[in-house]
Amino acid sequence: GTAARDDESRPGGPADSPFVRACRRREVPHTPVWFMRQAGRSLPEYREIRANVAMLESCRRPDLVTEITLQPVRRHGVDAAILFSDIVVPVAAAGVDLDIVPGTGPVVAEPVRTAADVQRIRPISRDDVPYVDEAVRLLVKELGDIPLIGFAGAPFTLASYLVEGGPSRTHAKTKALMYGEPELWHALAGRLAEMTLAFLRVQVEAGVSAVQLFDSWAGALSEADYRRFVLPHSTKVLAGLADAGVPRIHFGVGTAELLGAMGEAGADVVGVDWRTPLDVATRRIGPERAVQGNLDPCVLLAPWPVVETEVRRIVEQGRAAPGHVFNLGHGVLPETDPEVLTRVVALVHELSTGG
Ligand code: CP3
Repeated sequence: GTAARDDESRPGGPADSPFVRACRRREVPHTPVWFMRQAGRSLPEYREIRANVAMLESCRRPDLVTEITLQPVRRHGVDAAILFSDIVVPVAAAGVDLDIVPGTGPVVAEPVRTAADVQRIRPISRDDVPYVDEAVRLLVKELGDIPLIGFAGAPFTLASYLVEGGPSRTHAKTKALMYGEPELWHALAGRLAEMTLAFLRVQVEAGVSAVQLFDSWAGALSEADYRRFVLPHSTKVLAGLADAGVPRIHFGVGTAELLGAMGEAGADVVGVDWRTPLDVATRRIGPERAVQGNLDPCVLLAPWPVVETEVRRIVEQGRAAPGHVFNLGHGVLPETDPEVLTRVVALVHELSTGG
């Protein structure tokens, strides 16, 4: 209901873009497409700009965030931009000592073990992340009618980095905490949910047209454990944004068994990885929500005829969904040829225009 957002809902504006319309299950002129990690190491212009700047440092410089966010929009003609940042940016702003180590990912200096460790994670507001507010405002001006997606990490995925101290294949320490000290788990996840909600609100206030909640590692859980230990916290975030006026996308990897629950958390769109065909995913998610996905990022490394066949299949299967945003099933791999991404955008548009 802000003045900025009322202005944006003008015909042809970002709130009326094919991407936002598909998220809201409205008619679209073509299937919209963007790629998770579209800004990043697949692009030589990204590698150049990041050559002498550390990852977290680049996320705190609105000029760099703006330029890096715009690079894939200029190059590929995607239907949406995603803010260049990282899921651990608000965690660092909340006072947690961490770094993003090249080739590894987030590494936390003192992993969370006790209630006192949880207490030390401070609540955040706009003034803890002024660079995010500024970058979003700059980008909204630069992008004009192209929507900007804001994002955050979901409580489970953030908790995993905090408890493990870094990336983990099994999430064993996180699960041990969950099963062994459920009260401490809920205190941690609850605090992370509040932080995530506050962080997404900053982005909404600054003018993003949609938000995506990344629960990348939730697929490590059974549906029963997901419902018991995670769903209440992710619901606090997504349902807490029901009045924000922007579509909410909820994404994870390996979540075939969780798709229904992830929708129930309060999503308008559920992200699907490559393991579940979109028609099957739609049956699990129901008619009330759109789907996003789901090309295997590895397919982009195959010869073009293989890419083309897979893109066709996904556009076809997406027609049966209440709304479809074309994307990968997870992020762009650094070794991807960016020219293939550009061709995929053109192909999705061509196949879905009916011409
Ligand atoms: O284009 C976009 O999608 C926006 C940028 C973005 C980044 N991180 C930039 C980044 C987004 C949406 C994220 C989210 C993120 N970060 C997630 C959820 C999405 C997913 O991939 O599941 C997760 C789990 C993280 C944690 C993280 N940060 C990892 C696993 C890594 C990769 C480590 C590596 O070097 O391989 C990072 C670092 C990171 N975040 C990079 C980028 C472009 C690479 C760092 C670099 O370019 O030097």
